[in-house]
Amino acid sequence: MSQLPGPTGYPLIGNTHQFYRKNILKWFSAFPEKYGDIAQIRVARNQIVLLMDPNDIQTVLIDENKKYRKGGFHKRVTSSLIGNGLVLAEGDRWRSNRHDLEPSFHPQKMNSYANQIKTHTEYKLGQWEDGDIVMFGNEMKELTLRIITNALFDIDLRSENWDLPSIFDEVIDYFTYIAQTYVYLPEWIPTSRNRSYRRAIGELDEIVDEIITRHIEHPEEYDSLIADLLDQESWTKAEIRDEVVTLLLAGHETTALMLAYTTYLLGSNPDIRAQAINEIDQNEPQNSEKPFQQSNLLDHILKESLRLYPPAYAIFRQPTEDVILSGHKISEGTLLCLSQWVTHRDPRLYESPHEFQPDRWESDSLSAPSPGMYFPFAAGPRRCIGERLAMLEGKIVLGMILEKYIPKVPSQESLEVIPSLSTQPSSPIKIKLERRN
Ligand code: HEM
Repeated sequence: MSQLPGPTGYPLIGNTHQFYRKNILKWFSAFPEKYGDIAQIRVARNQIVLLMDPNDIQTVLIDENKKYRKGGFHKRVTSSLIGNGLVLAEGDRWRSNRHDLEPSFHPQKMNSYANQIKTHTEYKLGQWEDGDIVMFGNEMKELTLRIITNALFDIDLRSENWDLPSIFDEVIDYFTYIAQTYVYLPEWIPTSRNRSYRRAIGELDEIVDEIITRHIEHPEEYDSLIADLLDQESWTKAEIRDEVVTLLLAGHETTALMLAYTTYLLGSNPDIRAQAINEIDQNEPQNSEKPFQQSNLLDHILKESLRLYPPAYAIFRQPTEDVILSGHKISEGTLLCLSQWVTHRDPRLYESPHEFQPDRWESDSLSAPSPGMYFPFAAGPRRCIGERLAMLEGKIVLGMILEKYIPKVPSQESLEVIPSLSTQPSSPIKIKLERRN
């Protein structure tokens, strides 16, 4: 591989010492100005090539996607949890699974999902009172878990005594620890962290097994994605287990983060919050089937939040043959990083990139951004299958919160984030809810 630009490292450790710096995403976001379209860093024994030219990102994700497979941190740490589910499957297996799961994400399904989103959001709003300061990230995780479990598996978590939020907290803490320390001891080594993680997976497996078994024993009672897969007969219980765990994890965490970051941004930008409340009050018929979908401002607020705080901060790929990117030969197997965090804050692509300006999405130049410059849900054949559902949730949940409450940030602490499996706030996001009259 030819010599690429990048930060200078030490002979043995490469850039490892810089990688451990506290604010690694901040360090990365300076790369486009320093190094241009492509840069290389070396962490421990791993070379990572960061692609910063939207054309290269589009080449990898869309135009020449067949030359790349998944790789990197996400794959290494999640494979024992989500197995061969859709996020990690490759080749024919991925193609056929994606085909079988697509119907559950069809636009026609969104009306019934909207009803479930409304029901669970209403219930959550009823648990809050005027003046409450709530741990908003946790509240949103609980809500999005209830929604996804109801929408895709026809199970209402409110009437079950399964503590799925705590189980997933344990799982995410484990990934965050590895991402922060880069210490990855094989899971069979009985450290206390590994034991807690294995215990959490064990509890999750029991719950998922119970959900699938209920479907098998009482098929007439369920109208769900699992029922559809069981009807096809080619799916084994173990394969369905992998998809259920994949969808539970991928379907709630990122959406909850989007809602928490967006509410934080509204809480700390009173003018934009007031405009959003105004638009909701003026334009929305109260009980339409899919409320708030026509709101341009909510749309731009969510887009801008996903630009500034993308729940997925990076996508990793490895070429399956030697390729040329930005004029450089990249060898087969090289780990490529396509970072939403870096690209969405690239000053060559966005004016005042670190500022929250939802109205930037009104401009003609951003009405249809190229998939290589804005990709919160990835792009190409492996684009997020849940994007439509996530955006539906985003608008309904935010709209319903703003109808009833004015969200405020209690202390004006700035929001710092750290990379884990997803983009995590470094300390919990708190929101003060003031009831509207
Ligand atoms: C704001 C919310 C969400 C964000 C930002 C997000 C982001 C992403 C991204 C970036 C990918 C591509 C990963 C890669 O190729 O390496 C992806 C894939 C995926 N997402 Fe999402 N996602 C969100 C919500 C959801 C929801 C609600 C579901 C399911 C209900 C879901 C299920 C999946 C699945 C199954 C894949 C793998 C698709 C495939 O490879 O065919 N996601 N998501």
